[in-house]
Amino acid sequence: MVAVQFGDRGEGTALVGQTVLEAAKNLRIDIDSFCGGRCSCGTCRVRVTGERVHLAPMDLNEEVVLGSDAVARGDRLACQARIHGPIEVEIPAFFNA
Ligand code: FES
Repeated sequence: MVAVQFGDRGEGTALVGQTVLEAAKNLRIDIDSFCGGRCSCGTCRVRVTGERVHLAPMDLNEEVVLGSDAVARGDRLACQARIHGPIEVEIPAFFNA
């Protein structure tokens, strides 16, 4: 188990290998996921913050759905990003007010 923090929305632990979206759901933290985790809608984006960024590398599909600006800001798709260690992310209010 590793520590996961979702900004001021909550924190807890997750299993290594879980997606960020799975971890959030287990902690009852709501992240929009309109396509059901099929890497097509982009609504599950989270912003990586802090020093703890232990996520699997981004693949090309995730990069295309996010777009270059979001990638440059450090955004990830919660349904695609798998946890490798402690993480800190925030859920942008634009999608999850
Ligand atoms: S839930 Fe649609 S891209 Fe992640």
